[in-house]
Amino acid sequence: AQGLPELREAIAHHIAYARGVHCSAADLLVCNGAQQALDLIARVLVEPGCQVAMEDPGYSPARQLFLALGARLQSVPVDDEGLCVEQIADGTRLIYVTPSHQFPLGMPMSERRRHALLARAAELGALIIEDDYDCEFRYHGPASDALQRLDRHGLVAYVGTFSKTLLAELRLGYAVLPPAVLQAACVAKHLSDWHSPTLLQWALARFLGEGHLNKHIRRCHEVYSARRDRILARLGGDLSAWFSPIPASAGFHLSALAKPGVDVELLANLARKVEVGLYSLAPFYSEAPVRPGLLLGFGAIELLDIDPALDRVRDTLQRLS
Ligand SMILES: Cc1ncc(COP(=O)(O)O)c(C=O)c1O
Repeated sequence: AQGLPELREAIAHHIAYARGVHCSAADLLVCNGAQQALDLIARVLVEPGCQVAMEDPGYSPARQLFLALGARLQSVPVDDEGLCVEQIADGTRLIYVTPSHQFPLGMPMSERRRHALLARAAELGALIIEDDYDCEFRYHGPASDALQRLDRHGLVAYVGTFSKTLLAELRLGYAVLPPAVLQAACVAKHLSDWHSPTLLQWALARFLGEGHLNKHIRRCHEVYSARRDRILARLGGDLSAWFSPIPASAGFHLSALAKPGVDVELLANLARKVEVGLYSLAPFYSEAPVRPGLLLGFGAIELLDIDPALDRVRDTLQRLS
């Protein structure tokens, strides 16, 4: 159930190099995507009434998962430095965060907050789930390692995936878990689906072992970087009357906050009619006051298609103004 040793070995090597994660193959569980890793961790740790804290806005499927297991969920606001750690309630047992690229806003968690979060988790005796979903494409600034690297007390369950670096259809991800959680999660994995597909695991182990993933990431970096730069140039140029981007240094999407007077929902609806997919940030909020804005993905759009799409967005905004 834990996953092919060859693949675990290769992943441990990769995430030590790429994300600074401290682990060996023995600490790893191979899962069907990050989503299954979250599910298994939650299943072994959350019982009805268990207090769980997560970012607001945040990754809604994680919220739904914790609620489905009967958690008492605290939605903790985020600011420019990430999760507002000082607001995590007493009694919290589990804290879910996306420190490298806050989902959906995109900013990384500051160093200061990372230390504060680890200290708060230690004080509470809580486990932190670090969802490092969208972390491997970094565009500028000093590379920030995973939160897990700073953890000296086994408080972090680190979750990663190949959905972004390779493809989501692979459904292969992993979790690096403290020993007590690992054992229970392996049992849960076995009871859920025995193991992730062995042939795929072999193929991926070989792909990683032969160094293709790093080459692939290096090659793609230029492509995504150019797309991101183009969107940022437009947001800082002719779209700046309506939006300002949130600084982010990694990932496949960036978010932009709407300036007063912009009706983001209406804009997204009208944009859809001219075949531009814009996503409002509002649905990712739970209790925190919504800061209206857009999530702009660039994983699937060609560089040459960005300007024509943003021209249509600008024309729509001009008509609405
Ligand atoms: C923040 C976050 N975590 C986890 C996942 C799940 O990823 P996977 O495809 O590896 O299951 C997603 C998918 O969109 C996500 O946005």
